[in-house]
Amino acid sequence: MGTVTGQLGRNSPVTQFAAKDWDLGGEHPGVVLHDVASRPRPAGHVIVFANEKGGVGKSTLAFHTAIALCDAGKKVAVIDLDHGQATLSGALINREATCRLLKVGLPSPRYVAFSQSSAACLSQEIARIGSDCAFVLIDVAGGGSPIARRAIAMADSLVTPVSSSFADIDLLGQFDAISLRLKRLGRFSRLVGGLRKARTDARLPDLDWLVVPNRSRHTGSTNEAIISQALAKLSTKADFRLAQGLGERVAYRELFLYGLTHFDLKRIPNLGRVKATARDEISQLLADLQLPADDEEQADLFAAGMAVKEQVLAATA
Ligand SMILES: Nc1ncnc2c1ncn2[C@@H]1O[C@H](COP(=O)(O)OP(=O)(O)O)[C@@H](O)[C@H]1O
Ligand SMILES: [Mg+2]
Repeated sequence: MGTVTGQLGRNSPVTQFAAKDWDLGGEHPGVVLHDVASRPRPAGHVIVFANEKGGVGKSTLAFHTAIALCDAGKKVAVIDLDHGQATLSGALINREATCRLLKVGLPSPRYVAFSQSSAACLSQEIARIGSDCAFVLIDVAGGGSPIARRAIAMADSLVTPVSSSFADIDLLGQFDAISLRLKRLGRFSRLVGGLRKARTDARLPDLDWLVVPNRSRHTGSTNEAIISQALAKLSTKADFRLAQGLGERVAYRELFLYGLTHFDLKRIPNLGRVKATARDEISQLLADLQLPADDEEQADLFAAGMAVKEQVLAATA
């Protein structure tokens, strides 16, 4: 396959891609990257929750991560890109109602449910609600779309939940049933790989990809052992880190109607007993994310981001 000359000129990062690398969604990763990198980026750390597979826990993890960060005193903005389901923004609307009803103030993120499909609008919304936030969390709908690709292209951290099933892992990688040999990377891994390569080619910092096993039930079972082996192989080939993950727990959904998590119950003890295991698993997820520690680091990130943006614009002019 020959190289592809993009509209950005022969020496742009776009021209460095072989066509086989970007047969995803009909869009070239370099074009997606340029669309994102040419716009102002938020000062805060961008955490994107994405997996083309639906129902794997993206919104659940995004909600619990957002509340845990708020609980730790961080300023957080949340963008719900799944306006069809609006799970995450729905939980935050419920949270507001609970605060009003119980006359209690709970640490909460700013949020917006977003139905546009352009990177310009996404960037504008992030600036509108998240310009002074340490963290911007984006919950991406399953299924894959241009706006999903743009959100992933702007991620500092990418969080991908997967359940203990080859039906879910399929989009990350396909395995031989007998030998458990990795036959090929799945569509989502190739998409993320393409966008990461576009970033490297544009001399932008790589994103940090964390895959989170979710809803584990029977640690010690044969199925869990096989899935763990498969994920370990994939993590090397697709270049992601593996989190310890979350178990299957009612605690992650029983407070949804109130928009609460087990981090909140210490502030409203009459509502129920804190389930420490779920709270600790989310704390572990935050630790596994290895997020930047303080505001000074955020400022450094911002300065670095602005510098590379200038480079990209110069290189692709
Ligand atoms: N660790 C978990 N334990 C129990 N239920 C979970 C867990 N993670 C997700 N769920 C449930 O699974 C369903 C799908 O989760 P959701 O976060 O909406 O997935 P996605 O956003 O990927 O479509 C929801 O009913 C949610 O409450
Ligand atoms: Mg969702």
